[in-house]
Amino acid sequence: MRIDIITLFPELLKSPFEASILKRAIASEIAAVHFHDLRKFSTHKQRQVDDYPFGGGAGMVMMIEPIDKCIAYLKNERDYDTVIYLTPDGEKLNQKIANHNSTLNNIILLCGHYKGVDQRVRDHLITHEISIGDFVLSGGELAAAVFCDSIIRLIPGVLGDESSALTDSFQDDLLAPPIYTRPATYNNWEVPEILTSGNTPKVEKWRDEMALERTKKFRPDLLE
Ligand code: ADE
Repeated sequence: MRIDIITLFPELLKSPFEASILKRAIASEIAAVHFHDLRKFSTHKQRQVDDYPFGGGAGMVMMIEPIDKCIAYLKNERDYDTVIYLTPDGEKLNQKIANHNSTLNNIILLCGHYKGVDQRVRDHLITHEISIGDFVLSGGELAAAVFCDSIIRLIPGVLGDESSALTDSFQDDLLAPPIYTRPATYNNWEVPEILTSGNTPKVEKWRDEMALERTKKFRPDLLE
């Protein structure tokens, strides 16, 4: 998988890809992530990428031209499966969307800033719009990092068996059961006895029950 991220702040985006699972996925060439500084595609002397909104009002709008030029430059190199704009009014990211996008080969992500982008970008250049939740971030960069993490970890070979994505919360529309490790007693706080019993079928049954119980309690909407 290759992901090209178009951003005004490439430096904001780098560190999530320089540690842990994402770093390993990139080092083993299962995933490649490239950052493109939108200002480089500006035709203005001052590298301007935003302007006042037609019709007035507060806030600046990201101009279509640098975005169009950057996307055209990328599309000239290869075909893309999707061109995604990260925006709070997009479709809310969930595990199903992550699963689907993890199967794609080439993805462009556009990070918004200020009041957002000229609507013509959304109408003509973007194929999908994704939000990571009902709150507003300062820009799309952190949302892009969240999106990338959610999909890269699902590519076969990125996670080992020991951290298989199949047992994650949400993968079967249930929250994960509680987990414990040694010591079995800490400050008189005990690990549930069943987990140290060595009875694997009983442990599995307990985990299924706990997953259902936690889902009923914290996320009943997942069961509807
Ligand atoms: N940009 C600003 N807020 C956002 C959000 N919640 N999701 C995606 N992109 C955003």
